Amino acid sequence: MNSLNDLTARYFSWCNRIEYPEEPRRLYDASRYFLESGGKKIRPVLCLLGNDLFEEVTEDSFHAGYALDLFHNSSLVHDDIIDHAPLRRGRPTIHIKYSLPTAILTGDVFIARAFAHINHISGEYRHQIHMQFSKVVTEVCEGQQIDFDLEKKDLAHVSYAEYLKMITLKTAALMATSVKIGAAIGGADPQEQAYLYEFGKNLGIAFQIYDDYLDAFGEPSETGKQPGGDILEDKKTALLIKAWEAGSTAQKNALKNAMSKKGFEKVSAVLELYRNCKVDTWAADKTSEYTTKAFYCLDMITGIAAERKAGLIDLTNQLLDRRC
Ligand code: IPE
Ligand code: IPE
Ligand code: MG
Ligand code: MG
Ligand code: MG
Repeated sequence: MNSLNDLTARYFSWCNRIEYPEEPRRLYDASRYFLESGGKKIRPVLCLLGNDLFEEVTEDSFHAGYALDLFHNSSLVHDDIIDHAPLRRGRPTIHIKYSLPTAILTGDVFIARAFAHINHISGEYRHQIHMQFSKVVTEVCEGQQIDFDLEKKDLAHVSYAEYLKMITLKTAALMATSVKIGAAIGGADPQEQAYLYEFGKNLGIAFQIYDDYLDAFGEPSETGKQPGGDILEDKKTALLIKAWEAGSTAQKNALKNAMSKKGFEKVSAVLELYRNCKVDTWAADKTSEYTTKAFYCLDMITGIAAERKAGLIDLTNQLLDRRC
């Protein structure tokens, strides 16, 4: 059994030895630039923790974890193009620093290399994991398309249920699949895999609601992202949907008016309404609600000693309290 810190450290040393070619220089410089910029490594660590619940972590979990991490990074490179984001992890995004074609291709190379690592997984469960991995890649694309479609949709016609569906696909599915794949490698039975999938899904929903909160109220020097990026892009975040739902007629009109502004003025006007409608505290409560659901799913797995679940519990608590 490993602690969260040990597994994270082992993952970093495992993936740091992976090399990328030199040519074409711009493509692989951009790839290294992005992978070296860090990130919290939640998905690979979820995979390793899923494995660690059942047995000592194996080489297969490192390959699967790296594949999940690469796909996550690919989704971020492409997400920054979609969201017109100039900053990620405190540095210029790839389409800004290099070029749009290089950013598209970097994301593509990450996906191709991710599948190569899935193919490194040994015999018995490789096919099952390959299918789960392909499924989640598709789900993230579907969620990202819905996210983009919702930008254009009138706020009055976007429901919280639609939002939940969108974030379940774009964010929660990958966390759910990460822990499930690790558990499958560890020999979990189908019922245990299903509970862990639900654990990861609820964790992912909590994670995305809090990500929306940080986009609006986080400290840019800590989030490493452009302040108010979601507001500038008309993203239908949890905060915006709730502000509309909870707001009085006067606040709804003020919100519409604020959304029609541009740049800094738009961000500050929308933030003021968010505060007036108390959606900041609402988002924190929702994050806790889904985290509690995640813990409940973990409790449902009765055949595992409580101390073996400590790593997943620690990770969940860290994510509740994060600043980026
Ligand atoms: C960002 O994920 C994308 C979302 C699902 C909100 P992370 O916040 O895990 O990104 P890094 O890898 O730590 O930068
Ligand atoms: C994107 O959500 C989730 C992905 C599938 C990449 P966001 O657009 O909110 O992620 P950030 O805030 O840019 O990291
Ligand atoms: Mg984004
Ligand atoms: Mg996005
Ligand atoms: Mg975000």
